[in-house]
Amino acid sequence: MDVVKAIKSRRTIRRFKQLQVDKDTLSKIIDAGRLASSAANTQPLRYIVAQEQLLVEQLFELTHWAARVKPGRNPVKGISAPLTFIVIVQKSGGNALADAGAAIQNMQLMACALELGCCWIGAYDHKEADKLLELDEHTESLYLLAVGYPNESPVSEDISLEDDQAYYLDGKDVLHVPKYSVNAITQWR
Ligand SMILES: Cc1cc2nc3c(=O)[nH]c(=O)nc-3n(C[C@H](O)[C@H](O)[C@H](O)COP(=O)(O)O)c2cc1C
Repeated sequence: MDVVKAIKSRRTIRRFKQLQVDKDTLSKIIDAGRLASSAANTQPLRYIVAQEQLLVEQLFELTHWAARVKPGRNPVKGISAPLTFIVIVQKSGGNALADAGAAIQNMQLMACALELGCCWIGAYDHKEADKLLELDEHTESLYLLAVGYPNESPVSEDISLEDDQAYYLDGKDVLHVPKYSVNAITQWR
């Protein structure tokens, strides 16, 4: 898949097939993350791949999903929940949020090219997750990335600034993700 197709077709996935993603495939995703831009090339991010059943289930309990269409895209354990989380961590005291954004977007695009889906998760109990992961006092998690085989096909459509940008489920249970058009959000000077 070329990069243009990945950028245009990638959508957040919140329903996953109950199939495990193998280590080689996950390594390709992390490879895409590590190659992203990094302020002063300091590369403060580290990755923890969680696939052990108990750990994944415990992390899942700490997460929140698609608040705007609750409970329509709350994954269900054993049916649609992810079987893998990639935890993005940094050394404490740094400010690696921008680096994490760049890395996660690269990872999502690589996942899309590999026909996998992701959900970038910021809404989780960070303190409990860090405790569960036994992170030392110099390390903290920034985000989780749920990764798996997609079991839904969300779509996006272009909107103007007057339209509602909130994502929604239609009558066929398809998730729609409105995106402002280039013209709506760009000034040319
Ligand atoms: C920083 C950040 C945090 C996010 N946290 C969550 C989250 O906790 N739970 C969730 O279901 N989706 C989360 N998302 C996914 C967004 O809801 C999603 O990107 C948005 O609805 C647009 O959909 P798209 O990714 O398909 O373009 C997050 C996205 C970003 C960038």
